[in-house]
Amino acid sequence: MIKNIAVIRGDGIGPEIIEQALAVLDKICNLYNHTFHYTDVDMGGCAIDKWNNPLPEEMLKKCLTSDSVLLGAVGGEKWNTLPGEMRPEKGLLKLRAGMGVYSNNRPAKIWPQLSSASPLKQSIVEQGIDFIIVRELIGGIYFGKHETETVDGKLCATDVLNYTEEEIERIGRIGFETAQKRNKKLCSVEKSNVLDSSRLWKKVMHQLCEEYPDVELTDMLVDNCAMQIVKNPAQFDVIVTENMFGDILSDEASMITGSIGMIPSSSLGATSCGLYEPIHGSAPDIAGKDIANPIGTILSAAMMLRYSFDMPKEADCIEKAVSAFLDLGYRTADIMPSDPQEAQKCTKVGCRECGRRIIENMKL
Ligand code: IPM
Ligand code: MG
Repeated sequence: MIKNIAVIRGDGIGPEIIEQALAVLDKICNLYNHTFHYTDVDMGGCAIDKWNNPLPEEMLKKCLTSDSVLLGAVGGEKWNTLPGEMRPEKGLLKLRAGMGVYSNNRPAKIWPQLSSASPLKQSIVEQGIDFIIVRELIGGIYFGKHETETVDGKLCATDVLNYTEEEIERIGRIGFETAQKRNKKLCSVEKSNVLDSSRLWKKVMHQLCEEYPDVELTDMLVDNCAMQIVKNPAQFDVIVTENMFGDILSDEASMITGSIGMIPSSSLGATSCGLYEPIHGSAPDIAGKDIANPIGTILSAAMMLRYSFDMPKEADCIEKAVSAFLDLGYRTADIMPSDPQEAQKCTKVGCRECGRRIIENMKL
């Protein structure tokens, strides 16, 4: 098969981790006789430097005409003082909205080889951590009105959180459908004791529930959910939540699996053209040092094969190679065991060697 992939290397560690993911995709082409064409797209800080715009229109167009988009990470200290519209993150938000990818799927699954890297007690980890956060991605407070004005001589900042029934319904359906393919448990997370948008959220979820009688729906307030994720993560199968709650909870969920560096994500809308990115940031402090963990990006590439290109065998091949890499005791710095005795049994590798070792383990 021939596929066109738009590639956003971005800022910080972005270029290094993308390099490894592309090497993995090249290996897939060799093994399975596919051809992937890569088109470089500037977005984020590097696009601000080059084009004075975090996502120029032509760059968005390149993404929209591709079969899918693979993204490293954007942002960094250098651009932090720019006004909101000019920040690297704005490029990412424009990309998500421009592609219409309203559904962001973030798995929180512990690799058995890394269970000791979880900061949770082993007695909790042993109960299993395997859930998915379905995050609404192009609505809510991220896309409401943002404004800073002077009122009575004092600065006053406003961010508006609004959701329409339609926006909630379409992400709700993804939540229910995701649960149907798993253990049929959906937890809808909101703050309905305070927010109107959350009360509407809850109402729509319960209306939808009637169409999915095989799925057990529960409601949870977001503050309680933050607590339950560390107290008893085994209770969760699929969580569906709004944009900002999903942002926060998915960082928390990733951490209990050992490292945010391991977690991929997929974002999809009405078409098969998806956006695939690790959930971590651009980590400028470790950029260029060849110590970043490229696995979140490599697994994002695997998700692209599975969900956008209908290549399940190819996706399995990558995921199995990552598992074999871990079985062999290779670890990037972020997933090295803290216990010195455990660490002795592992081999620390940098970003490039991590990619190379994973590719070595990719087999038909
Ligand atoms: C994420 C990130 C982004 C978000 C930032 C970089 C805008 O934190 O993908 O989780 O908040 O969505
Ligand atoms: Mg985030």
